[in-house]
Amino acid sequence: MPDQIRDNSAPAREAQDHFALVTGASGGIGACFARALAARGMNLALAARSRSKLEGIKAEIQAKFSLRVEVIEQDLSAPGAAERLHSELKDRGIFVDLLVNNAGFGAHGEFWKLPIDRQAEMLRLNIVTLTELTHLLLPAMITKHQGGIINVSSTASFQPIPYSSVYAATKAYVTSFSMGLAEEVCSYGVKVLALCPGGTATNFFEAGQFDKIKFPGGLQSPEAVVEAALRALDRGRSLVVTRFVNRMMLFVQRLAPRRLVARQAGEMFRPRGIANRQ
Ligand SMILES: NC(=O)c1ccc[n+]([C@@H]2O[C@H](COP(=O)([O-])OP(=O)(O)OC[C@H]3O[C@@H](n4cnc5c(N)ncnc54)[C@H](OP(=O)(O)O)[C@@H]3O)[C@@H](O)[C@H]2O)c1
Repeated sequence: MPDQIRDNSAPAREAQDHFALVTGASGGIGACFARALAARGMNLALAARSRSKLEGIKAEIQAKFSLRVEVIEQDLSAPGAAERLHSELKDRGIFVDLLVNNAGFGAHGEFWKLPIDRQAEMLRLNIVTLTELTHLLLPAMITKHQGGIINVSSTASFQPIPYSSVYAATKAYVTSFSMGLAEEVCSYGVKVLALCPGGTATNFFEAGQFDKIKFPGGLQSPEAVVEAALRALDRGRSLVVTRFVNRMMLFVQRLAPRRLVARQAGEMFRPRGIANRQ
């Protein structure tokens, strides 16, 4: 694990013991976390549904570093997924020092027209599995008085977003939960960070069938998002909003009435073919 989140008062353990679990590691921000953590010398447990993509990332990392990389193929939106992933980790003798709860997806369109099953899946992946995994892995970190959790939230967490109403609400949960938990566990030597990127150049928009959305300043690279996250974790911060333009937008929003902010977000996210409200 990175020295910065290792408690030097704890007995030194073999490097072999130190693992980061990255969910949603088969692409986008998660794959960048895997690469960056490998460069910091951490063994990795990589979870997602696409085994072949995970195997590709494992091969790429092991070509550069002599680290243990474990691939765990799992649908983390299924009920009981966190428990199954946890027992898989135990079976493989993996102790997680750093949990990166990154797997997540969004959906674009009018709430009442989007399939409810898909939105329920989103609630389970973005909220339930993230919370359950945290609950399962945190006790060992507390006992050892070391560890870190990065919960990938979003700038979507700071305001309602019409036409992505459920997604924005899931991320509001992630930011609030993570910052509350960070305060609870800091005295146990465990760091928790809510990572809030804005629009990032990954497969996210395709996976959520988003129409083209114009983000001020364009899309950020996933590598830059991960770099900002690890720097913030090293500094013991509980929240990081990546990129100056995103921080400025959030600052301005705080001065405006919430209803107006929601309306403006609706302008930005209105799908093609939906009329402007009168
Ligand atoms: N891109 C953005 O603009 C942006 C902005 C703010 C926050 N975020 C957040 O960043 C996180 C990562 O997203 P990304 O941008 O990197 O998007 P992405 O490229 O679509 O990656 C999503 C990752 O989540 C995994 N995943 C999706 N459904 C899953 C499931 N049911 N079970 C297990 N894994 C699943 C995917 O792997 P498989 O398909 O192989 O399962 C993939 O590895 C998400 O939480 C997202 O909400 C993204």
